[in-house]
Amino acid sequence: MSAYEGLWTTVRVEVEDEIGWVFFNRPEKRNAMSPTLNREMRDVLETLEQDASVKVLVLTGAGESWTAGMDLKEYFREVDQAPEIFQEKIRREASLWQWKLLRMYSKPTIAMVNGWCFGGGFSPLVACDLAIASESAVFGLSEINWGIPPGNLVSKALADTVGQRKALEYIMTGETFTGRQAAEMGLVNKAVPLGQLREETVALARKLAAKNPVVLRAAKHGFKRCRELTWEQSEDYLYAKLDQSQLRDPEHGREKGLKQFLDEKSIKPGLESYRRQG
Ligand code: COA
Repeated sequence: MSAYEGLWTTVRVEVEDEIGWVFFNRPEKRNAMSPTLNREMRDVLETLEQDASVKVLVLTGAGESWTAGMDLKEYFREVDQAPEIFQEKIRREASLWQWKLLRMYSKPTIAMVNGWCFGGGFSPLVACDLAIASESAVFGLSEINWGIPPGNLVSKALADTVGQRKALEYIMTGETFTGRQAAEMGLVNKAVPLGQLREETVALARKLAAKNPVVLRAAKHGFKRCRELTWEQSEDYLYAKLDQSQLRDPEHGREKGLKQFLDEKSIKPGLESYRRQG
């Protein structure tokens, strides 16, 4: 039995072999993101961040959907009548986990897109470091079909991953595309048959789990931040990250790597990692 069983109502968490599996868990509503799910996801992410047995987080969906996006009933219609200030809170709670926490999460994250992925789902999709989709998963920027432009960070997420032509094509037509097309346009790292999705995701997660976690975090934060900085600022920031990671790294990875390559001649760092044990 998972230590987290029953803790959340809209999210299910399982921890297995250093992987924290986070399932959107409203399959009957195609895992639409309701205000409750948004609140719970923040707690889930913060909890798993502190769980030392979790080295990599995988975000996926129960049933045949990843997520059908924001909950049109609970996130939109029911909140429309609420006081304006309450609407602020509801939006903030969505953003808090969907990209603010997730994008700079302290552990590596993989979106495993098993099925439907619509609208608001694009924010957490792109906020995850890496993404693997089922070839048959169906993606769509459906907002235009029900009368709004994409909100939250959906358009920003697309601008960060795919080119302008493809992004505008899907934003403006609302037409769907498959996991295979998502891979071709760089929205996900790769697409595989549904039957291989978990196995491929585990293989990728295992690679990440084998790396030095402090250095991995500095590397991903450095890349994500410097996309928004000038070259000058990026140099300062990336060197500061490099120094920080050495200061914080309890494994002293840099020292070990240099020793194993230069003195022991036991590794080829171009091809393999330094030996983390011993
Ligand atoms: N918000 C709220 N409820 C949703 C939802 C959403 N985004 N997506 C699906 N649901 C609910 C449906 O209302 C239905 O609830 P009900 O059984 O109480 O009537 C249930 O999930 C099943 O939906 P259904 O449309 O019958 O499933 P389907 O498998 O035939 O189609 C989709 C799946 C995802 C194609 C379809 O549900 C859909 O188009 N959803 C909206 C997607 C969207 O535009 N999202 C953008 C939001 S930002």
